[in-house]
Amino acid sequence: MRKPLVAGNWKMNGSRESAQALVAGIKEGVGSGATADVVICPPFVYLSEVKSLLSGSEIALGAQNVSHRGNGAYTGEISTSMLLDVGCEYVILGHSERRALYGEDDALVAEKVIALNAAGLKPILCVGELLGERESGKTEAVVARQLDVLLNSVEGLAALQNTVIAYEPVWAIGTGMTATPEQAQDVHAFIRQRIASKDAALAEKIRILYGGSVKGSNAVELFAKQDIDGGLIGGASLQIDDFLAICHAAK
Ligand code: PGA
Repeated sequence: MRKPLVAGNWKMNGSRESAQALVAGIKEGVGSGATADVVICPPFVYLSEVKSLLSGSEIALGAQNVSHRGNGAYTGEISTSMLLDVGCEYVILGHSERRALYGEDDALVAEKVIALNAAGLKPILCVGELLGERESGKTEAVVARQLDVLLNSVEGLAALQNTVIAYEPVWAIGTGMTATPEQAQDVHAFIRQRIASKDAALAEKIRILYGGSVKGSNAVELFAKQDIDGGLIGGASLQIDDFLAICHAAK
């Protein structure tokens, strides 16, 4: 049995004040004995504060990106040791916004996954196709390419042991256009199969989240699918009630 996981990706949103209110509401609503692991991923500058606010709860802290390099002369970057230092457990990697807007390619994302795992942090690795790729029947080829860069190397395969995958069709992110539970399940099953071809035990235990316009109103249906082990939540993670409904839908 895979314990579901729900991660809230705040992206570049919020203020100290809104972060405090959001965390207080989520902490109270999640309570103890949650049926899913819950992770909150605020912007870097709020990580420390959110970590203190989360004390006494089982909610984990995640970051939205990290450098693949160790500490040193890399102006503007954040290292794995800094994230560990402020109490992070997870890091979102390869989000489509990072791939599209900041030029992160499969090779760089793979380096980050490997560096993160070596540091003892857990990657939440995002994969997913663009609308045009889906429409031209390339979904599986794109997702396979994004995974194979890790599956085909010894270090990559080792890093996947501690990784959570998030399937996020790019056309569904922030658009209100959710993949149907069947569309999502098909790709999740494909991802699990692809991993099984290298490591059957890993395929069985790895958690595969769905992301892309998940809301309180569609989470139950999505999470009911066999290979969907929770969600990576953008917009709805900024709304206490909606995010809590999603957390409670993951059983
Ligand atoms: P969304 O974002 O829930 O707002 O579609 C998901 C994500 O980008 O992780």
